[in-house]
Amino acid sequence: MEYKNTADFARQQDQQDPLRKFRDQFHLPAKLHQDVIYFCGNSLGLQPKNLRAQVEKELQKWQDLAVEGHFLGDHPWMDYHKALKQPMTDIFGAKPNELTVMNSLTVNLHLLMATFYRPTATRYKIVMEAGAFPSDQYAMESQAKIHGFAYDDAVVEVSPRKGEHTLRTEDIVQTIENLGESVALVMFSGVNYYTGQVFDMDTITKAGHKVGAYVGFDLAHAAGNVALHLHDWNIDFAVWCTYKYLNSSPGGISGVFIHEKNATDTSLPRLAGWWGHNEDERFLMKKGFEAMPNVDGWQLSNAQVLLQAAHLASLQLFAQAGMPQLTAKSKKLTGYLEFVIREVCQNSHYPIEIITPTEARGCQLSLLVPQEGKKLFDYLHTHGVVGDWREPNSIRIAPVPLYNSFEDVYRFGQILKNGIQQG
Ligand SMILES: Cc1ncc(COP(=O)(O)O)c(C=O)c1O
Repeated sequence: MEYKNTADFARQQDQQDPLRKFRDQFHLPAKLHQDVIYFCGNSLGLQPKNLRAQVEKELQKWQDLAVEGHFLGDHPWMDYHKALKQPMTDIFGAKPNELTVMNSLTVNLHLLMATFYRPTATRYKIVMEAGAFPSDQYAMESQAKIHGFAYDDAVVEVSPRKGEHTLRTEDIVQTIENLGESVALVMFSGVNYYTGQVFDMDTITKAGHKVGAYVGFDLAHAAGNVALHLHDWNIDFAVWCTYKYLNSSPGGISGVFIHEKNATDTSLPRLAGWWGHNEDERFLMKKGFEAMPNVDGWQLSNAQVLLQAAHLASLQLFAQAGMPQLTAKSKKLTGYLEFVIREVCQNSHYPIEIITPTEARGCQLSLLVPQEGKKLFDYLHTHGVVGDWREPNSIRIAPVPLYNSFEDVYRFGQILKNGIQQG
């Protein structure tokens, strides 16, 4: 696509954008700045306008029916999670019996590791990316320790080559192959939070399975951002949060995928709770856990209905927009952002390095700026651009196809140019 760094070009693109009506379905945080440019959906998505009503519906039900709400009304709370399965299928490329929502992300990571990280004296290594989100690193560290292994011995991090910022798939595969049968679990993110690199989940999964390991992914930065085919890729399990691209409230409910080959295996060991027990007998209060024969067999506690209601509202927008349309727009919009940044930097001789790989990215671009770059970030922020700053010298910017426009990107470029000129 041929881009132009002009207001006319950006407006024309917005007019032709089949998803343009969705911007109006979100609350833009105008109190931050009257002309806010929100490029921070990689951290916290915007509030969908339909979300409040969906949550209020459940508050009303609680007011009107109290405990009977578990069994009465549109979505009885006992089964509330079931209403979310179908709308998630296209986003994750998975079947309804492989998808559920519960708890929060790090909790679910530990919960699923109780099943999928069961090390032995000879097979105990966890292969992960260097520079994974700290919570994932802490989770791996504590899991290794719980099982009596030293972190440095059990956890093998794959790093970028010298002078490179992102990982090569061949190096990930090679590491797994070299470690061979000592690998118990390959645990990667789908999209690295810092660099924005999308990992080749299909190839990584195949490599992990080849050495007999389980393979799991943290999809915090992938969910609702890039096309996923979790079932066909044969991934064992995945977890994610819903407060980023899925716009389902701060600290919102987390999602879980367990491939049906595992999910239907009720003999797999797990940390059990009553909501994972055979639902026909759940209220008989009997002794002896009997797992549901699908992903719901990993549920622990009764449904977090208000968070699930918020998620349901957001999922309805995804269903209307459709993942293929969203990813198509995302490619154009992020391509435009890259073009605008490069043009501004070229004309002003300002050295911004985009470290997110063009051929493996979602909507986020990670920019390395010179050391005094925090001043530039502060300038952007004062002029209405909400992105985020990572010490010591990086800015993450994410134009989200559901609610960002080409004009946002054009305006960002103008503010960036002015910020650079101000020095
Ligand atoms: C990749 C990744 N993993 C884990 C987390 C932690 O999520 P939570 O605080 O919801 O457990 C985050 C949060 O941003 C994340 O980006």
